[in-house]
Amino acid sequence: MRTVYLNGDYMPENEAQVSIFDRGFLMADGVYEVTSVLGGKLIDFDGHAVRLQRSLDALEMQSPISKEDLLEVHRELVRANGIDEGMIYLQITRGAPGDRDFVFPDPETTPPTIVLFTQNKPGLANSPAAQKGMKVISIEDIRWGRRDIKTVQLLYPSMGKMMAKKAGADDAWMIEDGYVTEGTSNNAYIVRGNKIITRALSNDILHGITRAAVLRFAQEAQMEVEERNFTIDEAKEADEAFITSASTFVMPVVQIDDAVLGAGVPGRVAPRLREIYLEESIKAAV
Ligand code: PDD
Repeated sequence: MRTVYLNGDYMPENEAQVSIFDRGFLMADGVYEVTSVLGGKLIDFDGHAVRLQRSLDALEMQSPISKEDLLEVHRELVRANGIDEGMIYLQITRGAPGDRDFVFPDPETTPPTIVLFTQNKPGLANSPAAQKGMKVISIEDIRWGRRDIKTVQLLYPSMGKMMAKKAGADDAWMIEDGYVTEGTSNNAYIVRGNKIITRALSNDILHGITRAAVLRFAQEAQMEVEERNFTIDEAKEADEAFITSASTFVMPVVQIDDAVLGAGVPGRVAPRLREIYLEESIKAAV
């Protein structure tokens, strides 16, 4: 049984209980982060902590914990659960006011709820999916306008994964006005020649922590990066495509709808970026 963290205490997972009035449960009024663990250490903890604060600020939510203490909780959960490779899930909601009301409760009387738990994923870095590459389908992006805030409002992304699954694919890329926004739980990229193309940051997409690191490593490796919108049609004619996220790192995409990219196997750029990303982020892990 896992040890989890709830509102200041460590406890066995079956003892962790949250109120039925919690606004995370009633209104998806909460934010989250997923941080990966490799070799028992945290990948890009700082980036996730900074984005968490940004999400909280955007929703006028107070942080129940300092960055230093948050790092300590992450480390203690990794230790207590013996995680070598896996993820830590963190969620903060606006708490449980004791009734249902659209108006935000007073944070003085309703403290936020904070939950962290581990997900053990042995073999995460050496994933066979990375050798094979993934298939994505395209679906319309009908999410709300603040996708830069990492909220727990994940119904549509979840439906998107189900649409992909039913179509025999691995994931879905979301399309708005013909342009790819991002994957259901990852950022989307195409490669044309030596150029890596990905949508620029705005309220339309989540500002991926893995994205920031990968683009930095790409530039350091003298690869060309272009941050601009690309259409789903351009993607289908690209030399390569890939996604990034804290749980998949860099993952090649070899098919988009019915269009097979290149030889239908991972190309040159995505596997190289995955290698560099893993090497560099393990070096910098805390
Ligand atoms: N998802 N875009 C969306 C919509 C996401 O949900 C995520 C992350 C990303 C990539 O961000 P990062 O590189 O910081 O993980 C982009 C996490 C992993 C999840 O929901 O499980």
